[in-house]
Amino acid sequence: MGSIIALTNSKGGVGKSTVAVHLAAWCHERGRRTALVDADAQGASSLWLHEAEPDIPISRLQTPDEILDQVPRLAAQFDTLVIDGPAGLSEVTRAVLLVAHLALLPCGPSVLDLRALQEAIRVVEQAQRIRGGAPRAVLVPNKLQVQYRLTQELLAAVQALGVPALGGLRLRQAFADAAGQGTLVWRLGLRGAAATEEITRLFEELHIHESEANHESGVALS
Ligand SMILES: Nc1ncnc2c1ncn2[C@@H]1O[C@H](COP(=O)(O)OP(=O)(O)O)[C@@H](O)[C@H]1O
Ligand SMILES: [Mg+2]
Repeated sequence: MGSIIALTNSKGGVGKSTVAVHLAAWCHERGRRTALVDADAQGASSLWLHEAEPDIPISRLQTPDEILDQVPRLAAQFDTLVIDGPAGLSEVTRAVLLVAHLALLPCGPSVLDLRALQEAIRVVEQAQRIRGGAPRAVLVPNKLQVQYRLTQELLAAVQALGVPALGGLRLRQAFADAAGQGTLVWRLGLRGAAATEEITRLFEELHIHESEANHESGVALS
């Protein structure tokens, strides 16, 4: 069974689709059999990934039943399944958390983002109790602007949440441009260089191993 990696949070606009599309393309480019499950009714990541990397299979699954029935079946056929979740803690998000090995929670640098994140972590912990541990949860601080005080507060608050955090992504025009142009930051040339380095480091930090999906703890992190 392949690794099932889900992007979830209770809030929109935090970077779920941005990370999902880049992660799917990154895995595909490294020769892993990869598919995207777009569980967001808005379908942003399906359109974006189809344009950027038409070879990656995409399934649009919009209900808890579809997710619970079809994701395990898909995971048997691929090395990596990336699920782009909807904004909010709906039944769809809860179903996603019942099948994922790893839940990535992107969060922005505002106080509202932090409140949303606390809600999202609560729902992740419900799934972990039901499943006896999985999914492993990791925060992805996004749109960081190190010069602002709030961001430092966010980083301190994130440490207090008790969920491990990856290095995070800065607020960069290249991420917005990639979305607008249906492409990936590593195809933007020089103007995408800093964003590429950042998001690549983030994915490398995940150390995604296929075999780990067979263990209860899910995807291993170094
Ligand atoms: N690190 C970043 N820097 C600049 N813009 C970003 C960054 N991450 C995401 N964005 C932009 O923010 C908006 C929301 O991101 P998106 O990935 O669609 O969030 P979500 O899927 O959580 O709603 C998009 O316009 C996207 O291009
Ligand atoms: Mg989205």
